[in-house]
Amino acid sequence: ESGKLWGGRFVGAVDPIMEKFNASIAYDRHLWEVDVQGSKAYSRGLEKAGLLTKAEMDQILHGLDKVAEEWAQGTFKLSPNDEDIHTANERRLKELIGETAGKLHTGRSRNDQVVTDLRLWMRQTCSTLSGLLWELIRTMVDRAEAERDVLFPGYTHLQRAQPIRWSHWILSHAVALTRDSERLLEVRKRINVLPLGSGAIAGNPLGVDRELLQAELNFGAITLNSMDATSERDFVAEFLFWASLCMTHLSRMAEDLILYCTKEFSFVQLSDAYSTGSSLMPQKKNPDSLELIRSKAGRVFGRCAGLLMTLKGLPSTYNKDLQEDKEAVFEVSDTMSAVLQVATGVISTLQIHRENMGQALSPDMLATDLAYYLVRKGMPFRQAHEASGKAVFMAETKGVALNQLSLQELQTISPLFSGDVSCVWDYGHSVEQYGALGGTACSSVDWQIRQVRALLQAQ
Ligand code: ARG
Repeated sequence: ESGKLWGGRFVGAVDPIMEKFNASIAYDRHLWEVDVQGSKAYSRGLEKAGLLTKAEMDQILHGLDKVAEEWAQGTFKLSPNDEDIHTANERRLKELIGETAGKLHTGRSRNDQVVTDLRLWMRQTCSTLSGLLWELIRTMVDRAEAERDVLFPGYTHLQRAQPIRWSHWILSHAVALTRDSERLLEVRKRINVLPLGSGAIAGNPLGVDRELLQAELNFGAITLNSMDATSERDFVAEFLFWASLCMTHLSRMAEDLILYCTKEFSFVQLSDAYSTGSSLMPQKKNPDSLELIRSKAGRVFGRCAGLLMTLKGLPSTYNKDLQEDKEAVFEVSDTMSAVLQVATGVISTLQIHRENMGQALSPDMLATDLAYYLVRKGMPFRQAHEASGKAVFMAETKGVALNQLSLQELQTISPLFSGDVSCVWDYGHSVEQYGALGGTACSSVDWQIRQVRALLQAQ
């Protein structure tokens, strides 16, 4: 006997290098718990279909509990022949309860088994990651609420654009993350579909009740087609894409903060808990946490692209190529979990330098508001833009700040300028103008906070 589950038709031994190449146990052992869970449900299905007696089912259930116990306690011993988690668990079950174990796989294939396990595992992971994501969003919203009065420069093209609230910046990133959270729920919905009972390709010929399996494993739906069920991994691709997009958002936030904590900006200071020093330059405090968040994005994108390449052009239905899906899922799940927790830590411990932020504002950033001032006096916006541009040019030529131009000088540009133009030069007054929903005025920032909090509540 070859000691393999599929040994019957084989006479020659497998080359040891091939044995190792083929094995997935090194990583799919992470599935031990869901594999037992799936097998327990399946044995109930077999009993209901009359393929196991009640006594046999109880024996199997009991044996499976023992298998799980061994995994949980770290006493499960792998044997050299354990190719993957499914064969390992069944091998051990047989050692524990004898030949009855051989009935468990009746009508089942590793093809429907592995994808059931993976869906169960990912369903749980989605819930965990969703919790971590909301934790981060909550931390960001709390900060946004507490630091609503802090103003600093907003940038486009990394050029000073307009004054904004610091909270408005925080919320810009938090709001993107709420969409990632929404997307994750969608992905989870499509993960949460039961493939068990599909067999290797053609379905189950022994009358197994898939609705019973669905209820046992608490799946939201049942796969419609056994060929699709055993070979489609679009739910994995979706999960990896979700992670990629979420990492895109987190890497952008990280990049902003990396800039903001340079001496040149000095808007924020990273807590020591999330920084490291230089082995050579004693003065250095490096934002490694943020740099790693930024870089992990690359790893996640790579996994997403890699899986899509594996899937492309695969013939129907199960092919061993599909074994490659799991490392991507495990690695990306671990990465996302770490990244979300570190990001939460960074945001909650970040110090802000309010004075530096305020001092970084400059009157040229109010040129847009100067144009709006003229618009409010009745000038068409295009002319107002031109007039304000002329004022910027005049100030530059004279070597003074925009707000240093005298009223007389401004009036050479347009007679619509009058004494009340001085209001324009107040940054607090500037941001308060942007009161339409979604803008940087206090009322709108409060509205954003309420909206995001409502989403948090709905979790
Ligand atoms: N270890 C395999 C995987 O991860 C399990 C399914 C193997 N099925 C088969 N027919 N070879 O995909």
